[in-house]
Amino acid sequence: MSGHDPLSETTDFLRSQGFSTARFGVILGTGFGTCAQIVDQKSVVPYRSIPHFPASTVKGHEGNLVYGGRDGASVIVMQGRVHLYEGYDIRQIAYPLEVMHRFGVEVLIVTNAAGGLNPRYEAGDLMAVRHHIHPIGRRQMGDLTADPDDDPCYDDALRASLLEISIQRKRSVQQGILAWMPGPSFETRAEISLLKSLGADAVTMSTVPEVLAGRRLGMRTAALSCISNVWTGRKGETVDTEDVASTVESSAGHFSDLLVRLIRKVHRETSDS
Ligand code: HPA
Repeated sequence: MSGHDPLSETTDFLRSQGFSTARFGVILGTGFGTCAQIVDQKSVVPYRSIPHFPASTVKGHEGNLVYGGRDGASVIVMQGRVHLYEGYDIRQIAYPLEVMHRFGVEVLIVTNAAGGLNPRYEAGDLMAVRHHIHPIGRRQMGDLTADPDDDPCYDDALRASLLEISIQRKRSVQQGILAWMPGPSFETRAEISLLKSLGADAVTMSTVPEVLAGRRLGMRTAALSCISNVWTGRKGETVDTEDVASTVESSAGHFSDLLVRLIRKVHRETSDS
């Protein structure tokens, strides 16, 4: 029966605001907010007004849930996200994924700003995530602990489509391993050198819990990082949060183009099958 559990209250409310079935879910991180314009925005609902939904408290995260269509595909877009360092726990971070799942989302595309660790990376590069590394213990992760049988979390076919599209569009996309750190402070020099020695190509403060939640719910997942700053390992290196957002914003147009084409391609392929 609807209206008696939190998830039904959330979805009933969103239905009353025009939300309906969607096949694609997109999470837009720092600096990616304008990419919500790729859908026709039938409904835009602030997180704060949605029952039980965690609200973004960080600058650069608009905090809107957007429902709309693109080329015949229905999409739910999270314009902004929540992080562990805002005081939310793993269940709360996973909650929007439960909501998307109730609306039928099958394909999840997650974005983030990330610090580059691979010496070949430059600020503004996009990186498709192949695998992740995260230091958060089993107890904190609850039932979002990755199942070893589930490795890799990142869908090979989705990533291959993304790379194919990027080649057609003549803008290269890197592929690499993403490390998740809890934040909110940027990493110390020692942490940077540890993450590099573990084989991480980039580091972020988000994405991994959402991807794990999506996988647990049976979604095909892809994640894309925008390298917003590069760690060379030199003494005294600092990162400016404003620069992080502005670097991502300058790559957002390119990402929107990839996203539209990816949704179109996957929608066409899965509708035909
Ligand atoms: N570290 C962690 N998260 C980030 C970074 C970083 O250098 N840049 C953007 N998000």
